[in-house]
Amino acid sequence: MTDTPHHRTAPPGLEARLQAMDPAREPGVRWLEVDGVPCIVKRRRPSVARGVSYAIRYVRAFAIGVTCKVALGEFPPPNLLLRNGLPYEAERLKFLSQAGCAVPNIWFEGPGVLALEYVGDNVALLLRAAPQLERLQLARALAEDLAAFHARGFWHGGAQVRNQTMRDGELWRIDFEENIGGALSLPLSQAYDVFQLLSSLMAMRHVSDADMREIGPVVLDTYFARHPDAGVRAQLTRLGKMVCRITDALRPVLGRVEWRDVKGFYRVADTLRLLLKS
Ligand SMILES: Nc1ncnc2c1ncn2[C@@H]1O[C@H](COP(=O)(O)OP(=O)(O)O)[C@@H](O)[C@H]1O
Ligand SMILES: [Mg+2]
Repeated sequence: MTDTPHHRTAPPGLEARLQAMDPAREPGVRWLEVDGVPCIVKRRRPSVARGVSYAIRYVRAFAIGVTCKVALGEFPPPNLLLRNGLPYEAERLKFLSQAGCAVPNIWFEGPGVLALEYVGDNVALLLRAAPQLERLQLARALAEDLAAFHARGFWHGGAQVRNQTMRDGELWRIDFEENIGGALSLPLSQAYDVFQLLSSLMAMRHVSDADMREIGPVVLDTYFARHPDAGVRAQLTRLGKMVCRITDALRPVLGRVEWRDVKGFYRVADTLRLLLKS
């Protein structure tokens, strides 16, 4: 994270290749090889929601804001929540790249399209495939990486493991379309990142309950050892209290449910309970 990331150079034929494609037939995210160089092309078609008047989108953002106020204790201004999508992602990628953070370079930017440097394998898949010892090492590296990123005053806004990749042993962050973090205070944005990282680690597919439970405390300890921020700890503790209150109250109903996300939520609650004790 503190080292300068090793970027690759854009293939010269990229723009011509993009122009030859029919945007209407393209998926939202596509892997592409041009001149032997892998690239990622993200596209966003003008959606129905975007076509709807600003007033309706504002009302929707307002409703999200109220939900945040109830769940997280802060009201994110709707006008800031409405600053999202590919142009916003491009802005954040440039900003973070300039700051030396390991995020993909933008190789092409156009209306509704963004071509990015391919920065390796999805960490969610790597975690799933690894034996538990390696998985623990990788989880520690993820917590360390997030803490170092936060210590520099940044936040991700989508810190789930599926939004991190690894290339040649280096960790990268991707997917900066959502502006939830920019609309909240820094300690809460960072606590929310930790919460999302933890939640994604506690609800992995094809990993045993015991193995996931072993990862939770390791992530918390590693994170706070590298970024011992009282504000983030206070916000995460508050989140933990809320999650524990919900899981305790619903245990008679949800305790027996086998859904992956529900089980994951209980594991997150048990991990964050550790903060309530200390
Ligand atoms: N720059 C990149 N390098 C490598 N893989 C990427 C890159 N961008 C996206 N991906 C892959 O595509 C998936 C979806 O892209 P993402 O930017 O997260 O969009 P979405 O908003 O659909 O989640 C990611 O989970 C990752 O596996
Ligand atoms: Mg994503």
